[in-house]
Amino acid sequence: MSDKKGKVILSGMRPTGKLHIGHYVGALENWVELQKDYQNYHLIADYHTLTTNLDTTNVFNDSIEMAIDWIASGIDPVKSPMFRQSQVKEHTELFLIFSMLITKARLEKNPTLKEQIKDMKIQSIIYGHLGYPVLQAADILLYKGDLVPVGEDQVPHVEITRQIAGVFNEKFPKNDGRSIFPIPEPKITQFARLPGLDGKAKMSKSLDNTILLSDNEEVIKNKMKKAFTDSNKLRKGDKGNPDICLVYTYHKKFNSGEINEIREGCTSGALGCFDCKMRIASKISGFFAPVREKRTLLEKDKDGVLDILKDGEKRARKVAEHTMSEVREAMKIG
Ligand code: TRP
Repeated sequence: MSDKKGKVILSGMRPTGKLHIGHYVGALENWVELQKDYQNYHLIADYHTLTTNLDTTNVFNDSIEMAIDWIASGIDPVKSPMFRQSQVKEHTELFLIFSMLITKARLEKNPTLKEQIKDMKIQSIIYGHLGYPVLQAADILLYKGDLVPVGEDQVPHVEITRQIAGVFNEKFPKNDGRSIFPIPEPKITQFARLPGLDGKAKMSKSLDNTILLSDNEEVIKNKMKKAFTDSNKLRKGDKGNPDICLVYTYHKKFNSGEINEIREGCTSGALGCFDCKMRIASKISGFFAPVREKRTLLEKDKDGVLDILKDGEKRARKVAEHTMSEVREAMKIG
């Protein structure tokens, strides 16, 4: 454990409002574990939302809602500062400097960006969208992040961060010859993302196939009724194939104690899809009951949540200011 001590983790997420259970499984659960062993910083990437949406009406509220879900899921904002990117001005400053250290061609090679361009049918890319991994590099390196917990899609961005850190360190060493920045590594989340209720590879707000952390048992049951299952199993008595059923994936995650019984019931036909769905819906509801309870309390005190963010921002700013003073000194600016 001692090699973990003192290491810094920077994790970040775009504020998209209320989070779903896919966020929990893909990221939050992992972050909660990591805060035990590392110094964590939790960044709300509000400026990043501008890359694909200039309607800022909901950004503030979405950030608060996301913070509520983070805290309710077990992230301790006292231990690990939680803050909005837009409130620590050093992010934009370091972003500017970093943008001089990477070429346009390198940014255009980014496979995640290429996918976004294809998915969103973008004709002509916005300058800030092309450059958003550079802002992400600033997010990570301002806090000297050693590790960045990410899904596969974000690995190219950590690669870009590594490259920028290397170039900066070489060009601008400290007076004593040492480097300012670590070369961060991606920490891939273990459990694959949860599939959406429609069978798509992941849950996503825009696909409307999610179960929210705030959904109560009744809502979960209603949503689950519409979930896709093995299309060859139409009624109770039909034999099903759990390995192609997304409801079974949910059982694996949230009902591992009864997994053999569920598999057996599905393959033999004794368990109908409706009953199977209602069983997992109530398990999921039970699993998230403590999160729901906590988030209900936090919802009633949004001013308190904002205060938590402001406190995190104060602490984050201190670290960021220190890094920037080192950067300016090494660059002999000011
Ligand atoms: N780029 C990430 C996303 O689109 C969000 C993000 C911004 C981030 N800054 C970060 C993730 C720093 C990890 C570290 O989801």
